Amino acid sequence: MIRLDDTHVRPFLDDYSSSDLPEAIQTAHATVQRGDGPGSDFLGWRTLAESPNEDLISEIETHAERLHSDADALLCLGIGGSYLGAKAVIDALTPYFPAGDNDTPDVYFAGHQTSGAYLKQLLAHLDGQSVFVNVISKSGTTLETALAFRIVRQWMEERFDDADDRIIATTSPEGGALNALREDHAYTRYVIPPDVGGRFSVLTPVGLLPIAAAGIDIRALMNGASEMHDHVNGTTPNASLQYAALRYALLHAGYDVEVLATFEPSLASIGGWWQQLFGESEGKDGKGLFPASVEYTTDLHSLGQYMQDGQRIVMETFLMAEDAGEDLTVPTSEADLDGLNYVADRPMRAVTQGAYEGTAQAHTDGGVPNCTLWLDDISPRSVGALIYFFEHAVAVSGYALGVNPFNQPGVEDYKREMYQRLGR
Ligand code: PA5
Repeated sequence: MIRLDDTHVRPFLDDYSSSDLPEAIQTAHATVQRGDGPGSDFLGWRTLAESPNEDLISEIETHAERLHSDADALLCLGIGGSYLGAKAVIDALTPYFPAGDNDTPDVYFAGHQTSGAYLKQLLAHLDGQSVFVNVISKSGTTLETALAFRIVRQWMEERFDDADDRIIATTSPEGGALNALREDHAYTRYVIPPDVGGRFSVLTPVGLLPIAAAGIDIRALMNGASEMHDHVNGTTPNASLQYAALRYALLHAGYDVEVLATFEPSLASIGGWWQQLFGESEGKDGKGLFPASVEYTTDLHSLGQYMQDGQRIVMETFLMAEDAGEDLTVPTSEADLDGLNYVADRPMRAVTQGAYEGTAQAHTDGGVPNCTLWLDDISPRSVGALIYFFEHAVAVSGYALGVNPFNQPGVEDYKREMYQRLGR
């Protein structure tokens, strides 16, 4: 389902073997499986994939069908784990330029920053459309999301007599301002399981409702995650553990930064989700690789210089798909004035493949260890598998580093300083 190519890592590590996992990774894997490590009350993401909740999936599918018929736009309000997963999956699995007359609502995101200009322009754009809102916050108190919701709520109430029926609240079973609002307005509610942390919540209603609303097959997504769950827990070694192992070895060899590089634009938002998953899970107690995502070949014309020639502290992970979907063939030109006939009659995919292989080799030669994660294709099943692949890898990586991968104490500090300045 997901294949790891570590050819370009091997030259950088003397005692690395993909079949012989380091002790720390084996121990961490066993800790995740036993469920008795730090933060183990946040291992619910494993259960979601192990035994998907069929009733919930059916309920979300039915709800999504209603949105398909009633909504022009679904406005999702959320930040961090309450938004990045849905965006990643939707961007990966929906057309770049959807037909205007398609029967799924356009999904928009807000509440993930504090820009008044963004929200104002978004609401102006939505004016006159049949808008539904999904406000998503596990705590129900996150400033960015709560603020956007106050503005959007008022905007909805001014435009729709049935505004309360158009608002869906996805939050914890109890507590938080969002539950108070939900009770007062009788909004439809989806519950975020208490044992699933924000960045691990894409396969809960946090991600599933927006993803289903966008017309994506959430059953196939869940099936992919389940298959990967069974694989990583049933076969050792497996690619998820090997990925964790090589990151661990490279970190200890002095590579402090991991760059996740995509060549297919549809996969770029997976990089945003991955950044949060790894950054918030590992980056604590002065430990962890700094995760950064790039889009190639665009970023080869900017960050490519640093990758090739800057500080030698970077490892790179390419995220590729064997079958990237639709393609174009490069036409032949008789005059060949642009000198491109050397790629004529070949699919654009061949150019991408050349760019990928060339980059992997050049970066190896330049001192950047790199590995490749190969998806079969860009389908709901493969994306579901990838989600679980990374979730397991980061849980294992966190334990191997000796941190609790399921908390994020550092995020509170900016909030404290911000609230103080705002007079809360
Ligand atoms: O991973 C996490 O827990 C965080 O990134 C949260 O998802 C993010 O801070 C949003 O929190 P909430 O859903 O409570 O609004």
